Amino acid sequence: MKVDYLTPQAAQTQFLEVPTLPPTNCQPWPGLIETYRPYLPVSEATPIITLLEGNTPLIEVPRISQQIGRGVKVLVKYDGLNPTGSFKDRGMTMAISKAAENGAKAVICASTGNTSAAAAAYAKRGNMQVFVIIPDGYVALGKLAQALLYGAEVIAIEGNFDDALTIVQEMAEKYPITLVNSINPYRLEGQKTAAFEVVDCLGNAPDWLCIPVGNAGNISAYWMGFCQYHSLGKCDHLPKMMGFQAAGSAPFISGKPIGSPETLATAIRIGNPANWDKAWAVKKASLGEFNAVTDQEILEAYRLLASQEGIFCEPASAASVAGLLKVKDQVPSEATVVCVLTGNGLKDPDCAINYSNNQIKSGIKPQLPLVAEAMGF
Ligand code: F0G
Repeated sequence: MKVDYLTPQAAQTQFLEVPTLPPTNCQPWPGLIETYRPYLPVSEATPIITLLEGNTPLIEVPRISQQIGRGVKVLVKYDGLNPTGSFKDRGMTMAISKAAENGAKAVICASTGNTSAAAAAYAKRGNMQVFVIIPDGYVALGKLAQALLYGAEVIAIEGNFDDALTIVQEMAEKYPITLVNSINPYRLEGQKTAAFEVVDCLGNAPDWLCIPVGNAGNISAYWMGFCQYHSLGKCDHLPKMMGFQAAGSAPFISGKPIGSPETLATAIRIGNPANWDKAWAVKKASLGEFNAVTDQEILEAYRLLASQEGIFCEPASAASVAGLLKVKDQVPSEATVVCVLTGNGLKDPDCAINYSNNQIKSGIKPQLPLVAEAMGF
């Protein structure tokens, strides 16, 4: 039958013929604080500042599983699908909600980019002023664009993230301004919900969790989440926590802070992680490991995820998959492995364009034979 959708009457007639569908039980996702309220330090007095973050997909990556073989199943927790494009939104909904509860008018953070984007979005939604201190020239374009448009006061210093973090800590001590870096305990409380989601989805904890490590807040937060769920009986074991750093910025591998960290994965270009002791405790308690991956290995995983699995993450995030592939022989047969993809690939378009193996075929005249020829026909 020919369908005329152009008039409301016609559309109505058409819909009358559609059998009534059963109602779905799909509830709208209320954001992670409402979802996990009993496990978070909030009360009725906490104004919840949310952009409905969390509930990100856990996606199987069969090509990567195949590269490992032996029945190993690999999934990625794609946290780049959060409202500002990174896992930082999980921590920021908590940190900003608690700041609002405590009457804060302004917040501050040091950032390699993602924290500043998340802080800016949530602070503005909570009607606060937000200052972000970033290392000049080392923040990816998408993240800068976000901080500016959300309305943060962006201050670029001639130093690295570690210098910026030292400054914001002093600022927060001296002035009436709340620090929202991961030293703020509410940040990790929010971020631990990613572990809850992984367990809720798998029905148990994974055997391994692979995660990029910079300031080491997220690895600590995931561990908190797994331990809390384990103590509630929601999983019957705990994962081995595998932390991966960029080789040029790998203080956990050298065992001491690094003065001049370098890597193209600018999100994790950090030499003196604030959560140093926590991260070592996680490694020990989970029988985990820290390993380094080179920028080359990061780029290979970055391209592999996009071109074979259809998943575009930022370079720092690809460190988790690069790391897994590097130590793949250590993965037990039949294991379930979750790799955390912390940020969206659109955050760093320069990296994608500069390091994709692909090229634009340009300069083609708008004529069918020429387009067909360029297509290889
Ligand atoms: N992946 C991405 C995309 C990040 O932005 C970060 C940290 C990490 C991994 C590392 O997480 O610090 O908890 O170990 N970015 C911070 C920022 C430093 O300022 O956005 P971590």
